[in-house]
Formats: sequence, structure tokens, C-alpha cells
Amino acid sequence: MKYVIAVIQPDRLEDVLEKLTESEIHLVTVTNVMGRGRQQGVAEVYRSHKEAGSLLKKVKLEIAVNDIFVESAIAAIQNGAHTGQIGDGKIFILDLPECIRIRTGERGSEAIG
Ligand SMILES: Nc1ncnc2c1ncn2[C@@H]1O[C@H](COP(=O)(O)OP(=O)(O)OP(=O)(O)O)[C@@H](O)[C@H]1O
Ligand SMILES: [Mg+2]
Repeated sequence: MKYVIAVIQPDRLEDVLEKLTESEIHLVTVTNVMGRGRQQGVAEVYRSHKEAGSLLKKVKLEIAVNDIFVESAIAAIQNGAHTGQIGDGKIFILDLPECIRIRTGERGSEAIG
């Protein structure tokens, strides 16, 4: 299992969610966050409202998937979030040792989707 974390532009969220749905990826956590990339918020200010400390408003998606869904999750996020401009965002892939559905006690692949 993998834990896919993506930080994207807020205005790309709807498209990314649509692409994920088309890829049969429905379970997702979305958080409003602030962040800065390698331009440290400076050159990107025309795209997003700038916050304190060079931070810009971003959206973070977290998706736990079985290994076979990793590449389609990446493709969906990239297709939905890519504009070619700086600040399009980044995707991080982490190994995920365990997942437990609290209601049933299921674990692993049974619990993840
Ligand atoms: N190495 C990192 N560690 C933690 N968060 C990061 C990292 N890189 C990017 N982020 C997060 O992703 C957001 C978007 O990053 P961004 O797309 O600006 O990356 P970048 O490396 O500056 O690439 P680009 O040159 O395309 O802008 C940042 O505002 C930050 O929240
Ligand atoms: Mg950047």
C-alpha cells in the first residue's frame, strides 16, 4: 500500500477530483494548507493570495491506495493539476504499512478501498 500526498493549487482541486473519480479513486482527504516551494512564494504571487512568511494558500490531498492504483492516482493528479506554470504543485509517495477500518476491524487491502 502507498500513501499519496499531493499539494496543488486550490483552483485545480475540482479537476483533480474529477480525474480521480474517472480512475475509480474515490476515497480522499482534502485539507486547506499553506506552503512555499523553491520560489519561496515570491514569483508565484500572481496565482495565489499571499500569506505571512512567503506562504501561499494550497490544497493538500491524501490518498491511501493499493499498489496497483499508485500510477493511476499520480496520472489523475498530474492531469488535473498541471498547467505548466510554476507552483503547479508536487506529489509525494510514501510506503503505507497498515490501514484499519475502525467500523469493521478490517485491515490492509480489505480496509483501504
Ligand atoms: N520539498 C518540499 N517539502 C514540503 N513541501 C513542499 C516541497 N516542495 C513543494 N512543497 C509544497 O508544494 C507546494 C507547491 O510547490 P511548487 O509547485 O511551488 O514546487 P516547486 O519545487 O517550487 O516547483 P515549481 O518550480 O514548479 O514551482 C509548496 O507551496 C509546498 O506547500
Ligand atoms: Mg514553486
